[in-house]
Amino acid sequence: MAGDATRFDGKVAIITGGAGGIGAATARLITARGGRVAIADIAFDRAQVLASELPGALAIALDLESETSTEAMIAKTVQHFGRLDVLHNNAALLGPDIAQADGDIERMDTALWDRTFAVNVRGTMIACRAALPYLRATRGNIVNTVSNLALQGHVIQAAYSSSKAAIIQLSRAIAASHGKAGVRCNALAPGMTMTPALREAFPPALRQVVEDETLRDQLGDPEDIAEAAAFLASDAARNITGQVLVCDGGGASHVPGLSGFRTFFSQEH
Ligand SMILES: NC(=O)c1ccc[n+]([C@@H]2O[C@H](COP(=O)([O-])OP(=O)(O)OC[C@H]3O[C@@H](n4cnc5c(N)ncnc54)[C@H](O)[C@@H]3O)[C@@H](O)[C@H]2O)c1
Repeated sequence: MAGDATRFDGKVAIITGGAGGIGAATARLITARGGRVAIADIAFDRAQVLASELPGALAIALDLESETSTEAMIAKTVQHFGRLDVLHNNAALLGPDIAQADGDIERMDTALWDRTFAVNVRGTMIACRAALPYLRATRGNIVNTVSNLALQGHVIQAAYSSSKAAIIQLSRAIAASHGKAGVRCNALAPGMTMTPALREAFPPALRQVVEDETLRDQLGDPEDIAEAAAFLASDAARNITGQVLVCDGGGASHVPGLSGFRTFFSQEH
């Protein structure tokens, strides 16, 4: 392959939820590497502000709960740019109120469960379905953002984590069905990542718990996840499909209770 496989020259990427946090960092990085991006978000104002800062970028109003809006996102992108090379499904139903309400199954609100699956799983599926014909034409690929919470049991966010696990399986199904036609599909699982929103909303005591279980000496930034997303979306990852790339500073890689063991062995016994 000629040239730098990590670059996106001549390529077009859609980034859902691209108006802030990890998605915005990814939009900036793909643009810096020569690509043009469609920033699709329910927060259209913020998407427009970011698009105005990035050469060649397009802002699209998207509500993943709406089939029409999600299909229109793909159509508008192809109409505007004439092609589609990368679909990055990064948006998710998030926020302090949602997280607060999404706890133990015994107290699960059915409407919250349904909404979580509508935005995260059904929305991702509809976007993939609408994008596949265009991705076949460019031998493009899909990157679906999931979460480390999709891989392990937890006492928080049962609906969110179940929806993210479903997206992993969706990613494998797409990879299996469309690989021979040249389309790759992978899932990217960030651990806790210090977006501006999370920095503000996450209780410091719980943040310390996550830091203690992280193998790095700091939590990831949006730019760390953007690097992983851009890698998977690029030709540098051409031999990677149907996979889950965990980008969490090693938090999900070790035995349970590691931080307790670390403390024990750091003391005299
Ligand atoms: N930040 C973390 O610690 C972390 C950890 C694991 C996984 N993730 C995942 O990373 C992705 C990005 O998260 P983030 O932390 O940057 O959050 P964020 O809130 O900054 O970004 C999510 C974006 O999705 C958009 N969105 C929400 N509902 C939508 C809808 N119905 N239609 C269209 N857009 C919608 C929001 O407006 C927002 O811009 C998410 O999939 C999230 O689950 C984040």
